Amino acid sequence: MSGKVVNVAALGAGVIGSAFLNQLVAMKSPITYNLILIGTGDNSVHSRDFKPLDVSKGWNSLVAESKDQPLSADALLEYLKKSPIPVILVDNTSSAQISSYYPKFVSSGISIATPNKKAFSSDLNLWNEIFAGKPTDGLVYHEATVGAGLPIIGTLRDLIQTGDEVEKIEGIFSGTLSYIFNEFSTTQANTVKFSDVVKVAKKLGYTEPDPRDDLNGLDVARKVTILARISGLKVESPTSFPVESLIPKPLENVASVTEFMEKLPAYDADLTKLKEEAAAENKVLRFIGKVDFASNSVTVGIEKYDASHPFASLKGSDNVISIKTKRYTNPMVIQGAGAGADVTAAGVLADAIKIAQRL
Ligand SMILES: NC(=O)c1ccc[n+]([C@@H]2O[C@H](COP(=O)([O-])OP(=O)(O)OC[C@H]3O[C@@H](n4cnc5c(N)ncnc54)[C@H](OP(=O)(O)O)[C@@H]3O)[C@@H](O)[C@H]2O)c1
Repeated sequence: MSGKVVNVAALGAGVIGSAFLNQLVAMKSPITYNLILIGTGDNSVHSRDFKPLDVSKGWNSLVAESKDQPLSADALLEYLKKSPIPVILVDNTSSAQISSYYPKFVSSGISIATPNKKAFSSDLNLWNEIFAGKPTDGLVYHEATVGAGLPIIGTLRDLIQTGDEVEKIEGIFSGTLSYIFNEFSTTQANTVKFSDVVKVAKKLGYTEPDPRDDLNGLDVARKVTILARISGLKVESPTSFPVESLIPKPLENVASVTEFMEKLPAYDADLTKLKEEAAAENKVLRFIGKVDFASNSVTVGIEKYDASHPFASLKGSDNVISIKTKRYTNPMVIQGAGAGADVTAAGVLADAIKIAQRL
């Protein structure tokens, strides 16, 4: 044992939060991680004297038995400020409110590990406040905000910190849109309809409850915003560059998901034509996020790739990213699962470990 001890406050016990807590509790480590708070949307449990919570009967029963209301963001900040030893806030929620408090946590010396992309892909001012870089600031790691557990953000930061220069980043950053295009547009010509693939993806649970939340491209735009900012582009917001939506205009505002799904087949023709044109050139369609330094541009939308390109042979719902730099003239390609409880939680836990090692 190194003798080093850190406090950990974990917010969110949904898909990722539960997997994170299971991994944290099971982890054998030279550093001691004292779990001092578990907060969900409904209730919370925290250690008043900053001694570790007793999770010997399982963290879930501790939360289930607690009658405490969730702490407000202000109360959480005041509580964590009192921690007698360094503390890591692990935000496994998708809360915009919690993420708007990151600058307050960080400037109070509280470190953050999170898969929540809201803070990093909203207003540029929030990004600048979070990464103000004062020596007394807490550390902020957010690897799982892009590509879940895949080593994308850390790799990109390492490339840049060692003096490499990014020329182009392109990738498939949505597991849902990866699956949809891998099925819809294949290297062998097929008769699959776009609306049918969306239907199957929804049935398999790959889409959000309203598939328009995937098809509007905003999730990809948020991830590309993060990568562009790390690479040095001052992107104002995820809506400040062109984002192609796959939602037919007349269906943007239809009231129900059922009505949207019923009407989608009427708009298959355009994408079918595009796919057939690509196939005639021995190409496939993929939904891409791209940062291009030659043109100083960030874009999200459909692109065509040769059948021999790594993006063309992607399977299932994998993510893939290609990073071309001054040193990597033949681009570095990182590929694998871009979603899922265990891989994402491991990405968050690895960030918490990196923070603890640096504290
Ligand atoms: N799922 C993935 O594969 C994946 C991959 C990469 C990144 N992520 C990111 O990981 C984060 C969590 O995703 P998830 O799939 O685990 O979502 P989820 O299952 O909906 O879990 C989110 C949890 O956060 C809780 N919560 C919301 N506001 C809270 C607050 N103020 N304080 C404490 N808890 C709060 C929610 O509780 P209530 O339901 O009670 O409100 C819910 O249990 C998101 O930011 C997501 O974008 C997920």
